[in-house]
Amino acid sequence: MHVLITGGAGFIGSHLAERHLANGDQVYVVDNLSTGSLANIDPFRGHPSFRFAEADILHWSGLDKAVAWADRIYHMAAVVGVKKVLQDPVAVMATNMTGTERILRAIQHGGWNPQVVIASTSEVYGFNEKESFAETDNVVLPSAGRLRWAYAVTKLADEFLAFSYARKYGLNIVVVRLFNTIGPNQVGHYGMVVPRFVRQAINNEPLTVYGEGRQTRSFCDVRDTVVALDRLAGCPEAWGEVVNVGNDQEISIRELADLIVQRAHSASPLQFISYKDAYGEEFEDVTHRRPVLNKLRALTGFAPEWTLTHTLDDLIERARSRNLLVA
Ligand SMILES: NC(=O)c1ccc[n+]([C@@H]2O[C@H](COP(=O)([O-])OP(=O)(O)OC[C@H]3O[C@@H](n4cnc5c(N)ncnc54)[C@H](O)[C@@H]3O)[C@@H](O)[C@H]2O)c1
Repeated sequence: MHVLITGGAGFIGSHLAERHLANGDQVYVVDNLSTGSLANIDPFRGHPSFRFAEADILHWSGLDKAVAWADRIYHMAAVVGVKKVLQDPVAVMATNMTGTERILRAIQHGGWNPQVVIASTSEVYGFNEKESFAETDNVVLPSAGRLRWAYAVTKLADEFLAFSYARKYGLNIVVVRLFNTIGPNQVGHYGMVVPRFVRQAINNEPLTVYGEGRQTRSFCDVRDTVVALDRLAGCPEAWGEVVNVGNDQEISIRELADLIVQRAHSASPLQFISYKDAYGEEFEDVTHRRPVLNKLRALTGFAPEWTLTHTLDDLIERARSRNLLVA
């Protein structure tokens, strides 16, 4: 199979590349390396079935050809992370909406009907205060001008773009609402909590918990996430559908900090920081983010293999060996 991955030098994209190369597929990655990195794709760069184009999906001249070549497309490229969104909302709107439309248009013009996965996010549920979220639940977003929600709005627009193209042109598209994903290659500098806590714990620095740490999240290991995405892409019943992807085990951020300190045998204390100090005035956090996974299970039989503790132990060990390498 020929697999095109936009944003394939990023966190989730690089794991998709690894999985498909291991399956014997041809993999083509396009990425502008804005948050992704060459280090993420270094292990495959000499591989005869791997190609990489360093390009921006908004302008890439190779897009039409690559899309016509592909049997499957994972559209993962996006401006991601709360910090980035607050720093540059214009880039978020352009990349996340114009980029997606450009890809959908190229697929439609290609006259070939590849399997397509469009990455959306649990953020689209907005500040709906439910404890867990099913695909049929309403999204609750502010009616005007709160830029913290720009990311969610662009991803919701992507969903509607995808469904419009699927309906009008019969494209084989599944939209995935990804919940918090963690694992190797994720970096902490764009606001992601687990890599930041792990780094702080192994360096015996205070773990910086925002707010009181009572907000809860459900973390899915990326090595499970890519299994779900692969199965959904190849599942005709999923085409034209939106599907939650994640893990439904929930933990508060304070408990997560305690667990990481414990697993790392760290001497780090917890340090509580207000959202205002962490992100500025505009930030609003959400209290819960737990997926209802009935649809994903019914479509694919998906069951995550990685427990949170297992993933944390793996990340702690990897961070320690990196520290030893640079010491
Ligand atoms: N990681 C999560 O927990 C999570 C949760 C919900 C949704 N998602 C979605 O999954 C996708 C992948 O996220 P990720 O966590 O791997 O983030 P990431 O930042 O590691 O990956 C995004 C990749 O897209 C690339 N990119 C950005 N703009 C580009 C452009 N204009 N042209 C080409 N490449 C561009 C970046 O360099 C990066 O490699 C995103 O669409 C994101 O919205 C991720």
